[in-house]
Amino acid sequence: MSQLPPVLTIDGPSGAGKGTVSRIVAQRLGWHYLDSGALYRAVGVAASWADIDTSDASALVRCTFDTRIRFVEQGESLRVLVNGSDATDELRLETTGALASAIAAIPEVRAALKERQRAFRVAPGLVADGRDMGTVIFPDAPFKVFLTASAEERATRRHKQLKEKGVSVNFDDLLREIMARDARDAQRAVAPLRPAEDAVPIDTSGMGIDQVVATVLGLLPSQEA
Ligand code: C5P
Repeated sequence: MSQLPPVLTIDGPSGAGKGTVSRIVAQRLGWHYLDSGALYRAVGVAASWADIDTSDASALVRCTFDTRIRFVEQGESLRVLVNGSDATDELRLETTGALASAIAAIPEVRAALKERQRAFRVAPGLVADGRDMGTVIFPDAPFKVFLTASAEERATRRHKQLKEKGVSVNFDDLLREIMARDARDAQRAVAPLRPAEDAVPIDTSGMGIDQVVATVLGLLPSQEA
């Protein structure tokens, strides 16, 4: 039996609700939360600030090592500081997501972020959200979930979120972007998006957040949940 604090991994494609569900579940459990996608996004933002070309893999790897990333709780929201500057809003842009996905396909970038991610595993436990949490970063995690939803449903949710923020985007463009990102994440050679063999799949299409949270918490023994 491992002496390491427990980890609940929540993997899945973009827009499946991982972030929202993971944050609420972590809060309910009183566990720490790792938004691993934010690390890839932060490197993307730092690279664009430094005018690094996305085709320059060695500069991107150096940038990964050099980028300081800090998560700071501010009331209800979690701010992300990249090299000391608040990059939270820029991090959430679709363009940053696409950039992160391109950078995340570079094996040395993934390797450079591995230990940083594992360092989040501290008592009393960790909820880790991403693409390879259950397969590569925390393969020994006792609790693993793989959240999915159809691409149309994910695009609809994202479209609604953006509309609420006053951002107008074309639905078809959003759907195309989500599908392109899924394909790139699933087809890359290193740590492709796929469920761990021991992950519990949950299709969130047609489910509300509360229902997904309850389903995830229901997988944990009652002394944890
Ligand atoms: O989860 P999020 O949409 O913020 O992730 C942005 C991109 O970072 C993903 O499309 C994916 O390419 C990459 N990523 C990854 N491995 C993770 C988390 C994110 O490759 N564990």
